[in-house]
Amino acid sequence: MAAYILAIDQGTTSSRALLVRPDGSVAASAQQELPQHFPASGQVEQEAEDIFGTVLSCCRQALDKAGAAAADIAAIGITNQRETTLVWERATGRAIHRAIVWQDRRTADACARLEADGHGALVRARTGLVIDPYFSATKIAHILDAVPGARARAERGDLAFGTVDSFLLFRLTGGRVHATDATNAARTLLFDIHTGAWDADLLAVFGVPAALLPEVRDCAADFGVTDPALFGGPIVVRGMAGDQQAAMVGQACFAPGMVKSTYGTGCFALLNTGETPVASRNRLLTTIAYQIGGKRTYALEGSIFVAGAAVQWLRDGLRIIAQAGDSDRLAAGADETQDVILVPAFVGLGAPYWRPEVRGALFGLTRGTGPAELARAALESVCFQTCDLIDAMHADWPGAGAATVLRVDGGMTASDYTMQRLADLIGAPVDRPAEKETTVMGAAYLAGLSCGFFPPPEAFAARWRLDRRFAPAMTGEARQARLAAWRDAVGRLTA
Ligand code: G3P
Repeated sequence: MAAYILAIDQGTTSSRALLVRPDGSVAASAQQELPQHFPASGQVEQEAEDIFGTVLSCCRQALDKAGAAAADIAAIGITNQRETTLVWERATGRAIHRAIVWQDRRTADACARLEADGHGALVRARTGLVIDPYFSATKIAHILDAVPGARARAERGDLAFGTVDSFLLFRLTGGRVHATDATNAARTLLFDIHTGAWDADLLAVFGVPAALLPEVRDCAADFGVTDPALFGGPIVVRGMAGDQQAAMVGQACFAPGMVKSTYGTGCFALLNTGETPVASRNRLLTTIAYQIGGKRTYALEGSIFVAGAAVQWLRDGLRIIAQAGDSDRLAAGADETQDVILVPAFVGLGAPYWRPEVRGALFGLTRGTGPAELARAALESVCFQTCDLIDAMHADWPGAGAATVLRVDGGMTASDYTMQRLADLIGAPVDRPAEKETTVMGAAYLAGLSCGFFPPPEAFAARWRLDRRFAPAMTGEARQARLAAWRDAVGRLTA
């Protein structure tokens, strides 16, 4: 039996590759930063060749470090930043425009027009999403309109659209496979999450030609074989999921009612609702958690655009910390009597507000406010936003009882201060797992499941280990006061 799964995690700020052993341990890994481009306010782009180039080089480095060859790899699993949109030439694999990243807000006006034209209800019913620039559809239309001749070429079938997973697969397979998985398809605004198929009405609403679209497969499925020239021999690709869904798998949130929250650039909380999609009445998203063996499992998702990015702002914008880890110590020394609140709407507000045009603000400044209070405000803002999501989940799905435990992962969970605050503010336990690589482990697991490298879900779930549980310790009164201050601040911005 081959020794490893090669798991690829193509994220917003970096690409990574890990070689994973059957017991889940990591034999080798490589990581490379991914350059981002900000051509104008609210615009975020990446070069398609940087996306593929960094992935390829990380895979080769990881193989080299372990002294492994293609024949030692049982399968590849891919996970990726979701919604980020690429359109490329089928003949050459070359993108016709830079990737438009999920954070990009340039299609806010187009979204407002579609909403004003009354398309919101149809979109919501079929896709479980809201009309927002975050998702792929309006980004695709923008590329087709911005690049001369692109729309005609798309209609002729010369061009292909894909999210990052699909682009990577196309390039890894030497242009032979144009496919995606159900979780990534579910983030485009073009996919009916109930039937599991692209939707002709939605394609018409968003002006996207059907000829652009990839085939949609299960998350654990046969995605083809890599071009033998890339790794000195062919490797099968057998797993694929968007990064938040992969984290859900990596956290073994397989049972309805289980919730995970991942703190990367943004924060994404997903509640497993089982085989029934739950329509949100509180502006959460309904999405596909994973699709295995043709069976879809659904989730309610809350998407926040700024989490780790708030700590980056303390470091790079305000320069009040030298490294992310310093924010803990600083925040711990903040004056508890000051109600300084940061609403980190640097790129608008996501769930449950969905206000792309709103920008960030600080409230409650006094002459006594200093770096400590600002650091606390940044860390707390992430907790407050999670709180909004958890509240909305409880309201949408009474099955998520008051005692819900939140499984957390991602860079910010290294901050004990933030995790304790989070438990205090949501009023429920926060569980940090021993396994720090939940996202990439989810991708590895999906690939390994479909080729017998890893055991079935129940046995995989039994491997989950707790690093530390943060139990809520704040008094109910203090909690309500903090939450009221946050709600007042958000209310002022969104009124
Ligand atoms: O929806 C966007 C999300 O998939 C990006 O995740 O971890 O790359 O910031 P991350």
